[in-house]
Amino acid sequence: MAIYTYKTEPLTDFNQPENIKKYEQGLKIVSNYLGKTYDLIIGGKRIKTDKQVKSINPSNHREVIGTISQASLEDADKAIQVALDTFETWKDVKAEVRADVLFKAAAIIRRRKFEFSALMTKEAGKPWGEADADVAEAIDFLEYYGRQMLELETIDRVVLSRRNLERNEYKYIPLGVGVVIAPWNFPLAILVGMTTAAVVTGNTVLLKPASTTQVIAYKFMEVLEDAGLPHGVVNFVPGSGSKVGNHMVNHPKVRFISFTGSKGVGIQIYEKAAKVQPGQIWLKRVIAEMGGKDAIIVDQEADLDLAAESIVKSAFGFSGQKCSACSRAIIHQDVYDVVLEKMIKLTKELTVGNPELSQTFVGPVNDHLAFGKITSYFEVGAKEGRLVAGGKADQSTGYFIEPTIYADVKPDARLMQEEIFGPILAVCKVKSFDEALEVANNTEYGLTGAVISKNRMNLERARKEFHVGNLYLNRKCTGAIVGYQPFGGFNMSGTDSKAGGPDYLVLHMQGKTVSETF
Ligand code: SER
Repeated sequence: MAIYTYKTEPLTDFNQPENIKKYEQGLKIVSNYLGKTYDLIIGGKRIKTDKQVKSINPSNHREVIGTISQASLEDADKAIQVALDTFETWKDVKAEVRADVLFKAAAIIRRRKFEFSALMTKEAGKPWGEADADVAEAIDFLEYYGRQMLELETIDRVVLSRRNLERNEYKYIPLGVGVVIAPWNFPLAILVGMTTAAVVTGNTVLLKPASTTQVIAYKFMEVLEDAGLPHGVVNFVPGSGSKVGNHMVNHPKVRFISFTGSKGVGIQIYEKAAKVQPGQIWLKRVIAEMGGKDAIIVDQEADLDLAAESIVKSAFGFSGQKCSACSRAIIHQDVYDVVLEKMIKLTKELTVGNPELSQTFVGPVNDHLAFGKITSYFEVGAKEGRLVAGGKADQSTGYFIEPTIYADVKPDARLMQEEIFGPILAVCKVKSFDEALEVANNTEYGLTGAVISKNRMNLERARKEFHVGNLYLNRKCTGAIVGYQPFGGFNMSGTDSKAGGPDYLVLHMQGKTVSETF
């Protein structure tokens, strides 16, 4: 089969008038289906339930994106049974056929790119550039995992003959039924990556989307159907995390859980999955991507414009709602004042507001819970630092929070330790590169980090000593590209599963050795 070499999907240039038109057209398409109702999808069947929730535009509380049926425990049990039954056939479908479903889904999303971007602007509050990057990443996951699966198949066929009269085979087989619990902050890309990695490796899935981005998830279910995925391979089971989510995680027939979300929920899932339930005959596997408290270090010798720009983009892109976002800037005392000044200037230039407008850089935060949590840090910041930018918030029409910077924050302060998951940045002054590394590593997390420096020896030290899963030298710390920068973190950032990397698919499989003597 002829397969082109993997290449990342290009980002859209919104300086081109035709692309602006396409985005606006996308917004129109989405506006035409606002407010519709969406059902569960179990074994391909649409199921309407008594419990329904409304998905709201975070920029405008009055706009309902859709109303979605929520699964009960009985619905979840039904979905598990369907997934178990479907696994018996799907596990034997050839890898080429499974990969083709992913390639087809990529083509469908590519054709509907601007609609998906616009839907993300409406349902998740993503500004144009961020929404476009999210769609591109979703396409990348499909293209990359499809190819990875084809490669894994070739490896399967390698026969390791160690002795005469013996044939040894080692191959990967799927695990079984998996629960995919997806996040709202990359409501298409991460959901697509997690779901299709499980599917292309031959597993069947119960997909529980995040509660605030269920329409996007439903639209992806339609893409999978259009791409020819058989009914029952992915079952759409939206519902409450504490009830339906927990029920599925605890279920003895579930073989693995793939989770992206907060540290708190990740730990709970890890603990629940570890408990062997009556009738369970395996140890569940957990793939978890959790939070971060990511730092950018600015060295004494550094490009100071690059430093300020990297910090501001990493801290405030998508309102800081990325596990990869920079929430700590650690700056050498000799350049501290200059870099801080540049950061303040850049931050004040950012346009905050309605993400449907092309010039907006900072849209709303996710919902009232996020708004409440993030703004509660204004009080903490007032005690622990010096407010130099932002500090205001308004939820009268949508959940808007200004990009906010607190300077002169001490390494052990709450602002330097707790994941805020919003547009609040703490800045800390250090006396040396040694101290910078010490402060950067002074966290329970270990996801991303960056160093801006012209000193080769310091960059080399950081390469070894900055303990994060994704380290970036002389650039921002967000925006890992599928296939180029495998993504995942150390310590309380998760299981370092490295999404978009060469080892990710194998986490969804188990190795089987067959040795035949002739
Ligand atoms: N992969 C994203 C990034 O690198 C975060 O999930 O920014």
